[in-house]
Amino acid sequence: MSGAAAARVAELRSEIARHNKLYFELDSPQISDAEYDRLMQELKALERQHPELITPESPTQRVGGQPAGKFAKVRHSVPMLSLANALADEDVIDFVERIRRFLKLGSGVQIDFTAEPKIDGLSLSLRYERGELVSGATRGDGSEGEDVTANVKVVADIPHRLSGGGGLPEVSEVRGEVYMTRSAFLALNEQQARAGRSVFANPRNSAAGSLRQLDPSITAGRPLGFFAYAWGEMSARPARTQWGMLEWFAQRGFKTNPLAQLRHSVEQLLAFHREMELKRATLDYDIDGVVYKVDRLDWQQRLGFVSRDPRWAVAHKFAAQRATTVVKAVEIQVGRTGALTPVAKLEPVTVGGVVVSNATLHNEDYIRTLDVRIGDTVTVQRAGDVIPQVLGVVRERRPQDAQPYQFPQICPCPLKTRVVREQTAAGEQGAIARCSGEFACPHQRIEHLRHFVSRHAFDIEGLGEKQITLFFEQGWIKEPADIFTLAARNRAIQLEEHEGFGEVSVRKLLAAIEARREISLERFIYALGVRHVGETTARALARGYGSWSALHAACLALAQGDVEARQEMDAMDQIGATVIESLASYFSDQHNAGIVERLTAQVRVRAAERPARDSALAGKTIVFTGSLEKMTRDEAKALAERLGAKVSGSVSKKTDLVVAGPEAGSKLKRAAELGVRVLDERQFLELVESG
Ligand code: IVH
Repeated sequence: MSGAAAARVAELRSEIARHNKLYFELDSPQISDAEYDRLMQELKALERQHPELITPESPTQRVGGQPAGKFAKVRHSVPMLSLANALADEDVIDFVERIRRFLKLGSGVQIDFTAEPKIDGLSLSLRYERGELVSGATRGDGSEGEDVTANVKVVADIPHRLSGGGGLPEVSEVRGEVYMTRSAFLALNEQQARAGRSVFANPRNSAAGSLRQLDPSITAGRPLGFFAYAWGEMSARPARTQWGMLEWFAQRGFKTNPLAQLRHSVEQLLAFHREMELKRATLDYDIDGVVYKVDRLDWQQRLGFVSRDPRWAVAHKFAAQRATTVVKAVEIQVGRTGALTPVAKLEPVTVGGVVVSNATLHNEDYIRTLDVRIGDTVTVQRAGDVIPQVLGVVRERRPQDAQPYQFPQICPCPLKTRVVREQTAAGEQGAIARCSGEFACPHQRIEHLRHFVSRHAFDIEGLGEKQITLFFEQGWIKEPADIFTLAARNRAIQLEEHEGFGEVSVRKLLAAIEARREISLERFIYALGVRHVGETTARALARGYGSWSALHAACLALAQGDVEARQEMDAMDQIGATVIESLASYFSDQHNAGIVERLTAQVRVRAAERPARDSALAGKTIVFTGSLEKMTRDEAKALAERLGAKVSGSVSKKTDLVVAGPEAGSKLKRAAELGVRVLDERQFLELVESG
């Protein structure tokens, strides 16, 4: 027995060491934190049973209170945000226009912006108390990051003490970007290669890997830089503008990016983007765009946020990276909704540091318009996280025998259904071809299940693409509810008999499934895979309805054609006619209704967290009517939502409060009829300020 235990202990230690390396040195983890914890737990348990196997080198034996190979988690007192992206000039023009509308600024009013390079590194939050550096944390998921205090202390650009003396705020959290210069990155890789160690893919990974070293002396040997550009908690605000804050950072001993500038019009912003795009190649650090931020902090405050992105800032990215390669074949993928997407199989090519061997061709018309043929040389583009796409054909390089592609009339799925082209709202032929097999189509069902267990949905570990396909083919899982009855149906035994599923992995899988029997409302909604209901919409629905029973009732009412239910949903921020139609059609289908019913019998859906529970507006349904004077309707709505209220477009029995400006009409009358409390703008603002 002890022999088997010793073998497993050795195996676990080497696995843990391998994952430590992937996580800390290569910055490319292959397993989740939970999975890693399970390996450690198993090792600890074995060492408890067999103390003779404990060695000082075991990862369980490292001191410091933390399990070896882990940083402690830190909650950010003010979340670390992300930025919305602008890709085209028009997006920047829209961004400025939106701000103007939101703040009710006439076209004559000048809005100043800081224009800063967008450094391609990793963001960091540094906390100073009475001027002393007390902690450093990575961004993590924005709410919670990793405690890298010991490591930030060895970065030369990060002061241990704020300079300048006098007037230091009690608390100041300085945020910015850690990066590695390109020259340092190349030198480091050369050194790694010479020592037979693995190399980093790009300076960003190498900066991240260098910062997240368990041994800070390794970090110290890596040349990292830091630019300050933002802040978190501040007990006192040392400036009134973004630019003033950058100056304050510089006075306190930080580096701020020397290329940052103040700009005064949208034309000047666009010019900055062009200047930086030209400058990019000459810089010794990577930038992937520029960032514009409204300079006045009082305006920033008023503008607030849309989910995690500030309304007052935008990242204007540089054009995507491109390369040319040869199309070897075209394959059809059947998506979750039956859409057939043609995918070009490419001769592998590196695009901006990533190897690309598949690129989307979108649809039949796209192939025809570009006249893409098999054997053609094409340009492919990769932009951010999106799927690479074929942009066009290099005609001069077309070989004699290039083959035009025939889009299939029959779906490649086993049902061999006839492919149908979707109709647009205007009754014309749409671009998307679909398999008409619907629920009978195994491709669609598998895609549905894959979506259901994916990372932003149920996130069931160990149940990936491969397993879903296998389980589906075996007939063990046909629909989401089946996942949760797997254990009860005693499939475990058969699973174990199946190649590749050891006792441990079966146990782990069943545990991972159990762990997801309770799920947040927004994940649940997203997991259903209703067309047009992505993560943002799911979140908006979760916040708006609060519980699954409320949302479900509303959807069933929608499906019945209930006008009030439709109006209520329509009044919600971020929800429009397309989503409503889609929900109505989903829930009017008997098959879907059954899937949902069987699923909800298996899982518990947690009610959504309401923001700012303790504000005077929390949980209230508010209707705005008439014109407002101090702010726009959008701003008032955003303010109310920030304080946990639901803003509706029509007055009903459920309305708690009507805020009426001059020229209020029928809604005010209706409020009076129903006895709903009415406030004017001033009273509303007083209520807001009262907390
Ligand atoms: S401002 C609320 N400024 O870009 C504003 N971000 O896409 C928070 N970044 O997570 C960010 N350079 O890691 C800001 N000059 C800059 C930046 C910058 C790089 C990164 C940062 C952030 C990401 C957002």
